[in-house]
Amino acid sequence: MLFDNHGRPIHYLRLAVTDRCNLRCHYCMPEHGLQWLSRADLLSYEEMLRLCTLLVRMGITKIRITGGEPFVRKDMMKLLRSLAAIDGLEQIHLTTNGVATAGFVPELKQLGIRSVNLSLDTLDRERFFQITRRDELPRVLDTLHALLEHGIPVKVNAVVMDGQNTNDLIPLAALSRDLPVDVRFIEEMPFNGGDHITGRPLWDYVRILDTLRVEWPSLEKTPDAPFSTSMNYLVPGFKGKIGIIAAWSRTFCGTCNRIRVTPKGVLKTCLYDQGVLQLRDLMRSGLDDEALQVHLLDAFAHRPANGWEAAAARVDSPLEESMATIGG
Ligand code: 5AD
Ligand code: SF4
Repeated sequence: MLFDNHGRPIHYLRLAVTDRCNLRCHYCMPEHGLQWLSRADLLSYEEMLRLCTLLVRMGITKIRITGGEPFVRKDMMKLLRSLAAIDGLEQIHLTTNGVATAGFVPELKQLGIRSVNLSLDTLDRERFFQITRRDELPRVLDTLHALLEHGIPVKVNAVVMDGQNTNDLIPLAALSRDLPVDVRFIEEMPFNGGDHITGRPLWDYVRILDTLRVEWPSLEKTPDAPFSTSMNYLVPGFKGKIGIIAAWSRTFCGTCNRIRVTPKGVLKTCLYDQGVLQLRDLMRSGLDDEALQVHLLDAFAHRPANGWEAAAARVDSPLEESMATIGG
């Protein structure tokens, strides 16, 4: 088992395989996209596999593949296949926007992918276009239905934005009434690739919860899974749960069990830190696993206590980051 300097176990890696995306969500990146990393800047699949194998040996049991949009990277399934063969890795999960995912669902099932988080901020086609700058809602819904048909657990993730999709809160939450999916609302964070400045979100977790309660007064708290970042609720009779992720308010740091590796191979021990270790360069400089492990353990022994401490220690502005370069 791995523990950090605050006694928190670490067993969850979020691995971002690309910074590129086939959508342009306002809260994530500008219209023209980001300054994409070149192929050589990205971790290769071989490097990812080496890193994951080592981290699993050290105590990681769960890996989530994320991006950018993972399916934009060529041969993503090849990576998943080799990850699925790592001894000791108990769970692989995936976060996707669903635009190009539907066709891969049968193989995801076959590989034993535990669950898929689908980013979906509205069920209205016009508003989907406004938020993501692409007219792709039908393909995302195809993915949702393909996942359900194949019995892969789905969580829908929606970022709540004042003046953009707050009218979609109730229709989105109602998905959990009609379908066996959990729907989670995420507070907007400042990582949007420099598109615009955001501060404390006008729609924080309290306001989101109040809005849900007005619609469904019978909404009740359900126990949260250990290390969960979401606060979870249930309306009696609904098929799925409704969750709120206080990503800006940072209510979950005390039980944070996760680390991140960005598309260019930087280790982050907190979502809000600036990156603590350039793993890609260490690997390319010829370090063996034993030496790499020493660096990793040192980083885990210096984790900030919470996202506030991590943000305060940054020297650059979080604004220059995007969830696509961080690894959502
Ligand atoms: N604030 C909150 N959530 C964000 N995501 C992307 N950018 C932001 C942001 N600025 C979400 C995506 C996806 C998850 C990986 O992160 O919608 O669901
Ligand atoms: Fe793409 Fe996700 Fe960023 Fe939207 S939030 S642009 S789907 S990476």
